[in-house]
Amino acid sequence: MNLKNDLIIRAARGEQVERTPVWLMRQAGRVLPEYREVRKQAGSFINMIKTPELATEVTIQPVDILGVDAAIIFSDILVIPEAMGLPYDMIESRGPWFEKTVATEEDIRNLHTADAGDLHYVIDAIKLTKKELNGRVPLIGFAGAPWTIFSYMVEGHGSKTFSKAKKFLYTQPHLAHQLLEKITQSTIHYLEGQMNAGADLVQIFDSWAGILSPEQYNEFSLRYIAKICDALKAKKETTGKKPIIVFAKGAFFAREEMGKLNCDAIGLDWNMDITESRKLIGTSKTLQGNMDPCLLYADLPTIKKEAEKMLREFGPLKHIANLGHGLYPDIEKDNVKCLVDTIQNFRFKS
Ligand code: CP3
Repeated sequence: MNLKNDLIIRAARGEQVERTPVWLMRQAGRVLPEYREVRKQAGSFINMIKTPELATEVTIQPVDILGVDAAIIFSDILVIPEAMGLPYDMIESRGPWFEKTVATEEDIRNLHTADAGDLHYVIDAIKLTKKELNGRVPLIGFAGAPWTIFSYMVEGHGSKTFSKAKKFLYTQPHLAHQLLEKITQSTIHYLEGQMNAGADLVQIFDSWAGILSPEQYNEFSLRYIAKICDALKAKKETTGKKPIIVFAKGAFFAREEMGKLNCDAIGLDWNMDITESRKLIGTSKTLQGNMDPCLLYADLPTIKKEAEKMLREFGPLKHIANLGHGLYPDIEKDNVKCLVDTIQNFRFKS
């Protein structure tokens, strides 16, 4: 199916675009009253992501309401641990919670290597969303990076330090690699399944990249992200044609290495200087980002001024506008709309 708006795909490939495209991490979520309404009716977050009709509805909401240039499938990175044998719960105002965690070699052996069929509810939601979008904008699929998924599987919940997950790397590096490998294979199957179901591009989220040392990051994270990119790109006629964005929060120290990944775009967080990032990553890749989500608490003229400043600094080519991390639930919808409108109305003087 032809896309009516393919700006994000073209920008990811480094092609000329009439204007900089924009989508926002966590664009589907509690910033939208319309989302909160569906969420109330669904009862739980997990029920929502497991019911394709509901997932489709909230995936499309930000396209209708905010006018963003892409939809991102409504799901969570934690569906992978569940498909591998660790069910989770999403506890109101506390976040994810796993009953079982991974500590021993036996725990790792007992985990299942997931395939796309284990995540049929996401695959069905992608197919339904593609149908309902009817080519209006591209659909982004996603998965967590193996290191971030590993962190949740070992800790069992969120953490400020993720010290239990880091302890695992220092005390049982061999086992850590076994677990990371199993997550990597599951993630490859899952992302292939998403692309084959209709996802037009994918993003890999490494939310806990920033807690590792540069050396550990290369060994325990980047290596596995590289494997995923290589596996998807190897199938030249299918998944290999679709752009991959890698977003590693806090990985300022790894930007040069990330420039060598077999991916199309690198997401920057707001701590990463734009000009310096371009120098470190090189000119081959598209950059995505990187507004501080907290800027959206400011008044509208400030949001407009800062958004235009960001666009100029990235320049007209190889940029996908986004935040440096997800939207916070208490940000005003009108402020988000102001950001999207500013970016879409901006033109570089020729
Ligand atoms: O709009 C989108 O970006 C698509 C949907 C999406 C969600 N989670 C929905 C969600 C995406 C891409 C994610 C990814 C995700 N999930 C990440 C990586 C990105 C990041 O933020 O670093 C991580 C680390 C998770 C794990 C997770 N899921 C946590 C820690 C939490 C609790 C925090 C919170 O905001 O409540 C979630 C829950 C979650 N995932 C919500 C949403 C909309 C909130 C659930 C609700 O409605 O109550």
